[in-house]
Amino acid sequence: MIRARREALGCHSLIRGDCLSVMRRMPIGSVDVVVTSPPYNLGLAYRSYKDSLSEENYLTWMEAICRKIARVMRDDGSFFLNIAGSSAQPWLPFELMVRLREIFNLQNHISWVKSIAVGEITYGHFKPVNSSRYVNRNHEHVFHLTKRGDVEIDRLGAGVPFTDKTNIPRRQHGEDRRCRGDTWYIPYETVRSKTARFSHPSTFPVALPERCIRLHGVRSDMVVLDPFMGTGTSLIAAESLGVRGIGIESDTGYVRIARKRLRSMLQQTG
Ligand SMILES: C[S@@+](CC[C@H](N)C(=O)[O-])C[C@H]1O[C@@H](n2cnc3c(N)ncnc32)[C@H](O)[C@@H]1O
Repeated sequence: MIRARREALGCHSLIRGDCLSVMRRMPIGSVDVVVTSPPYNLGLAYRSYKDSLSEENYLTWMEAICRKIARVMRDDGSFFLNIAGSSAQPWLPFELMVRLREIFNLQNHISWVKSIAVGEITYGHFKPVNSSRYVNRNHEHVFHLTKRGDVEIDRLGAGVPFTDKTNIPRRQHGEDRRCRGDTWYIPYETVRSKTARFSHPSTFPVALPERCIRLHGVRSDMVVLDPFMGTGTSLIAAESLGVRGIGIESDTGYVRIARKRLRSMLQQTG
C-alpha cells in the first residue's frame, strides 16, 4: 500500500495515493463536483497501474470507488464519469452504470464526440481501425450522476450562442445563449509526439472537465475533485475557472507531470 502524500499548489491540492483510501479520510459532503476518467480496463500501458483486471474485479473495484465518491460529494453535487467500452468489452460501461443505480441517479448522459463525419466532411482525428466487424469508436460516455436526480444545472453557462439571432426576441430569451445539448464535440489537439500528450496513454482535453464544471454551475467557493487525476487536466480546468481542485493519483510520475503543468499555468496567470 502506498502512503498518501499531499501538497498544495495555489489553492489546489495534489495527492499522491490510492483514491479509495484517500477518499475514506476526506470529510463527508466536502466536494461540489467530481469529474474523472478512471482506467477503462483496456490493458493500456500506464506507468505503474495494471489496466487488466477481470471484468468482475474491475466492476467491484469501481463500485467501491463510486461509493466513496458519493460519501465525499455534497447532496447537491455532481459526479461526471467519463468512461468508454471497447470492442473486447462493449458492455462494461453499461454494466457499471447498472451497479451504480443503487447509489446515484443518472441525471444526464452526454456523448463526448472526439471525431465525427458531418455529411461528407470529417472533423477530429480518426484512429486507423482496420476491421471487418467494427466501426470506428468516435465517442465516449460522460455520465452525469447525482444523488437524487434533482440538481439544478447551469445549461446556459455551458451553452452556445444562437445561430439564428432572431430567435432571441422571438422566443423571449434573455441572452444570446442556448443549451448545447448532450452531444459535445471536443477533439484532441493535434500532437506530434507522446511527450506532447505528457507520456500518458489516456488524457482528456481540458475543455471536457471545464465544460462539466460549467454545466454544474461555477461558484467561487466550490471544490472540484478528480480521484484519478493522471496528468492533472481537471486541476487545469479548475484553475482556469477560478475554483479549487483536489487531484488524487497513484503514480508518482504522473503527479510530477500534473505539478509541472499546474505550476506553469499558475506562473502564467500570475
Ligand atoms: C484515465 S487516466 C486519467 C487521465 C486524466 N484524466 C488526464 O487527463 O491526465 C486514469 C489514472 O488513474 C490512475 N490510477 C489508477 N489507479 C488509481 C488509484 N487507485 N488511485 C488513484 N489513481 C489511480 C492511473 O495511474 C491513471 O493515471
